[in-house]
Amino acid sequence: MVANHARDRLPEEKVFKDPVHKYIYVQDQLIWDLINTREFQRLRRIRQLGASYLTFHGAEHSRFSHSLGVYEITRKIISQFERSGYPDWPKEEKLVALCAALLHDIGHGPFSHSIEDVFDTRHEEWTCRLLLEDTEINRVLRAFDRSYPERIASVICKTYHQPIVVSLVSSQMDADRMDYLLRDAYFTGVNYGTFDLERILRVLRPYQGRIVVKESGMHAVEDYLMSRYQMYWQVYFHPVTRSSEIILRQIFRRAMELYAGGYPFGWMMAPLEKLISGMIDLEDYIALDEALVQTAFSEWGKEHDFVLSDLCRRFLDRRLYKYVTMDQPNEALWQEIREQFSAIGLHPSYHLEIDFPFDMPYHVYRPGTAGMTENEEKPPILLLSGDDRLSEISGRSDIVRSITGIHQGKYHLYYPEEPLLQSVHLLSANIRELFALM
Ligand code: NI
Repeated sequence: MVANHARDRLPEEKVFKDPVHKYIYVQDQLIWDLINTREFQRLRRIRQLGASYLTFHGAEHSRFSHSLGVYEITRKIISQFERSGYPDWPKEEKLVALCAALLHDIGHGPFSHSIEDVFDTRHEEWTCRLLLEDTEINRVLRAFDRSYPERIASVICKTYHQPIVVSLVSSQMDADRMDYLLRDAYFTGVNYGTFDLERILRVLRPYQGRIVVKESGMHAVEDYLMSRYQMYWQVYFHPVTRSSEIILRQIFRRAMELYAGGYPFGWMMAPLEKLISGMIDLEDYIALDEALVQTAFSEWGKEHDFVLSDLCRRFLDRRLYKYVTMDQPNEALWQEIREQFSAIGLHPSYHLEIDFPFDMPYHVYRPGTAGMTENEEKPPILLLSGDDRLSEISGRSDIVRSITGIHQGKYHLYYPEEPLLQSVHLLSANIRELFALM
């Protein structure tokens, strides 16, 4: 059972200064104790946007600040529900929802998406392990209520018995997305990620086990969906960021390949060795952060293996791969590119990569259809009219309808430019044309 409420209030409210929400208020001892665990503090050392700082130099904000922001938005939504006395909000779930909001990203590692691609790990699995295994977070939760680790894990895994709690933290319009859109827009310095959060919070309603939007809030939701659309294409899929992520993946792939072949690394550190050997355990995972990974890149920049040292120096010095835009290459052309790259001393597996931005986990708002990489249904955003009827938003809004459905992306071919420039005379006319080296 949830313990005595009064006992668990902090004697004095704690306040964090935050550039997006101005202030973040902590009133519960449990939330304060969770923030002070070493696993949560580790999020200060992991950037929210991975390698995006190489494209948008302001994008240095951490997953720590985002996690606090998701907590704060969830807290505001619930306070609104409680103030309005909506009977469809289960009051006893407040702390579970706040914990899930705060902890939803604790399983992220350094440059998560690149690491997940190469080492076939999932941050969601690490999040569950951090909640359920022997960690400070687990001890704090268990001391409060023995059922809490399981309950919070099931909210994050979307299996919780109260779907309304899940939808607060994970849906088409949840506290997670609202915070990261505003925060990423703020720190990248772009103008298009903003929307009226206060207005959205005022028009949300708990209704029959889910969260719906009061009809009069439709335009605020349109604005939110447009900002999400813009942020994906202008920030998250930015071709320079994609180039940085390709280099990151290549570094990890090369390190893994060298390790498997018994290469004598001049420098190595235990958590990293565990990662590239595929034997990483929870303790080592917690020890991995971006400071450690960047130290590794700095040291590996001196390795004898040219592919590895070159990739590491490229990342640190921001000498990223260039790209050309193309149609999907056919087998013959792909073969020719690879042969020509090998002929001038490049390594086609490391110096060439085709990217199609739809590979990223992303769904444009499409009512009732499965996401691009996630299997679960993303429930549509529903509008609630004055006479208690629900309607799906894209049936009501021309703006939402126009960004609903699959958007056609382009192929980008990434490569290091300097070696090609130095060997133009060795390349076929076909290849020179493709890379605009005439
Ligand atoms: Ni998040």
